[in-house]
Amino acid sequence: MRCPTAAAALAALTLFFSFPALAGEPRGRFADLAADAHAVDQFRDGREIFRYATFGDEDFWGGTLGLHETIAGAANGGLGAGVSPKTALAVGLKVDVDNLPREVVRALRAGKVNLDDPAVTLALLRADAVVGVTGFFDKPRKRLTSVGIQCALCHSTVDDSFAPGIGHRLDGWANRDLNVGAIISLAPRLEPVAGLVGVSVETLRDVLGKWGPGKFDAEVFLDGKAVRPDGKTAATLIPPAFGLAGVNLHTWTGWGGVPHWNAFVANLEMHGKGTFFDPRLDDASRFPIAARERFGHVRADEDQITPLLGALQIYQLALPVPKAPNGSYDRKAAARGEALFNDKAKCATCHVPPLFTEPGWNMHSPEEIGIDDFQSERSPDQHYRTSPLRGLWTHTRGGFYHDGRFPTLAAVIQHYDAFMGLGLSSAERKDLEEYLKSL
Ligand code: HEC
Ligand code: HEC
Repeated sequence: MRCPTAAAALAALTLFFSFPALAGEPRGRFADLAADAHAVDQFRDGREIFRYATFGDEDFWGGTLGLHETIAGAANGGLGAGVSPKTALAVGLKVDVDNLPREVVRALRAGKVNLDDPAVTLALLRADAVVGVTGFFDKPRKRLTSVGIQCALCHSTVDDSFAPGIGHRLDGWANRDLNVGAIISLAPRLEPVAGLVGVSVETLRDVLGKWGPGKFDAEVFLDGKAVRPDGKTAATLIPPAFGLAGVNLHTWTGWGGVPHWNAFVANLEMHGKGTFFDPRLDDASRFPIAARERFGHVRADEDQITPLLGALQIYQLALPVPKAPNGSYDRKAAARGEALFNDKAKCATCHVPPLFTEPGWNMHSPEEIGIDDFQSERSPDQHYRTSPLRGLWTHTRGGFYHDGRFPTLAAVIQHYDAFMGLGLSSAERKDLEEYLKSL
């Protein structure tokens, strides 16, 4: 090219188009890199939300129920004796050692922290170290003015590496030590919740007291059914929130997909401020409270939930299933158990590996699995969802099935053996159990 200006222009153009970022939307390898970065960003945002977002629910837990007043205690501007770290750990709350200031870790190690002093609980809250609970303090962060809760409250625990209840976070693990009923019961003003369910505060405290560790009743605020026909609590076990990628319907009774349930919980259970639509809750014969309160048609002035649902879902779906520790099961027996699971014991007809639930509509009637219909009748589809079985070893406390009716995996297997007439020998049942422990 003779003309230097044209040559320069052409060179500039070539340069421009070979750096796609300059030309607008990235393409090719640049597009792949941008997508990778986007996925990582979403995952990290989701982790922050899962651990720390209260969705504005402090207006309920602090503002309406006054839970922060009992936590602080009269000595710290609240009510009563206050909640000491010992009490907090006893009701299953967990402490994230990675958020503790170094001097607190040193003092704890030296045994110089008074675990009977509610002021120490406030210090833990100030450090954002109580898993799933955020304290709000007035300037200069002296008085606790409110508390909010997060997903991590029920769906994270810690590895106890520092002390029982104190360690590194394990996101997605069901906190089966957590006594949600006892925690709610601490609140000084339960009238709004009692009024919603249509009982006295005394009755409500009695109901909450029966939930026990690892359980919560998401449906009692929709249908007011606090006990099963056999008189036991209607609360269900907290399930893990990992290993859910590829799984169609969620919750024990398949209310919907992950984003449905996340919106449901954040709006209706945590009392965050957002938008929720589910006209199935307008069925007044099955969900009298939800229909009356129009829980299927929630709209807040300022939506603090909907913008967070995308990243929150990506985080949960990307959470890996923790591997069963070496030596926690017999490998040879587990290999024999796998063969039984896939063939003679017929487990894989519903628990399809590697999802361990059905790809597709993963729901079954109570008759198909040989149990009663109390809990399935409390859900829109009136069925039970095939539990994705990976990571069973992380939630052995509290038992198995939605209400923990089978105390051990051996009891679950015994149930299927009898109900489905599988004719398993005791050695085969043991092998199957070792396989379940390995998932
Ligand atoms: C107070 C305890 C509690 C809190 C807080 C909580 N959950 Fe849950 N979660 C439960 C219980 C109990 C169930 C089972 C409900 C059922 O089946 O009726 C559940 C079910 C789930 C499931 C279904 C799991 C499966 O196996 O399909 C997901 C996903 C989930 N929760 C995510 C979340 C997210 C995200 C948040 C925060 C927005 C959250 N949860 C807050 C107690 C809680
Ligand atoms: C007809 C479908 C079906 C078959 C066959 C089946 N399951 Fe299940 N399984 C389910 C459903 C549905 C649930 C959820 C029950 C509930 O929510 O109470 C479940 C729950 C479980 C649980 C409890 C999970 C938890 O988190 O508590 C275990 C363990 C289990 N099944 C193991 C097995 C084994 C082992 C076999 C074979 C012997 C088997 N299942 C056969 C449908 C099935």
